[in-house]
Amino acid sequence: MRAPEPRQALPEQAFRLLREIFHERFGLWFHDDLRFLLELRLGPRLALHGLRDFDAYQRFLRLDPRGPAEILDAVEVLTTSETYFYREPEQLRALEREILPALERERSGERRLRLLSAGCATGEEAYTLAAQLLDSGRFAGWDLVVHGVDLSRRCLARAQAGSYGEQAFRSPEGTELRRWFQLREGRWVADGALRRMVRFGAANLLDGEGLPVEPVDVILCRNVLLYFDSPARRQVLRHLHARLRPGGWLLLGHAESLLQLSADFELVRLDRELVFRRPRAATGGVP
Ligand SMILES: C[S@@+](CC[C@H](N)C(=O)[O-])C[C@H]1O[C@@H](n2cnc3c(N)ncnc32)[C@H](O)[C@@H]1O
Repeated sequence: MRAPEPRQALPEQAFRLLREIFHERFGLWFHDDLRFLLELRLGPRLALHGLRDFDAYQRFLRLDPRGPAEILDAVEVLTTSETYFYREPEQLRALEREILPALERERSGERRLRLLSAGCATGEEAYTLAAQLLDSGRFAGWDLVVHGVDLSRRCLARAQAGSYGEQAFRSPEGTELRRWFQLREGRWVADGALRRMVRFGAANLLDGEGLPVEPVDVILCRNVLLYFDSPARRQVLRHLHARLRPGGWLLLGHAESLLQLSADFELVRLDRELVFRRPRAATGGVP
């Protein structure tokens, strides 16, 4: 049996150059104490391309014609795609109790709603929204679409397949959503009613490329901004603001806020949640 390859160390200089590539391209920010993560996760890619060390790898990413494709593959192993059905339930209940009824009133003329799960990972958030729209009983006969976008092609393929293990339904509210899925050979597969509503696609939130062009009524961008630095967060928020219909809603993760990032949204206090809204009238820019 062959001995495993010794692990390559990631020197300071190569670390700085490598993290800049993923920051520039996707907004992701790896603090100094995450150097081990890049070393661990990118290490195996050196052997894959026959490169002797991390310095050769960062040059490969920047200068080799195969670099752009490798950047897309490498980011797959660097991002966290942890998610599950009906995550952060208080916020989703607020959506059901307060935001959907408001949208029913406000959009009854057009009878058309667009929701966006920005950074949807493997799709659980987008399917949760689709199930909530159906369960609300408010929108029969409406034109409803839930967009799910992410940079990870691998996650998007799983989202499109719509087939999940038990773990994905680990919250009590998530377990209830299983009625929209069929159990086939030990996997829960999304029903036609959900599938007809969701559309998954690749997008980079940093430059906005791939985001739906049609205006959306609600954006969930949860547990995504925490991986970015402030300038990248501001840039992402500008793109999301531009995609939101005036009066549209923005829901961030509980660990995330707009503090010092954007003055483009107004804070709305719902019964038990704080959410954001694009004002109906135009406002000033990002501070
Ligand atoms: C932790 S998951 C969040 C999933 C879901 N929103 C939730 O709260 O359960 C973060 C996702 O953001 C995606 N992501 C990170 N940077 C991105 C970018 N620049 N553009 C699009 N997606 C990005 C990652 O690929 C990952 O799937």
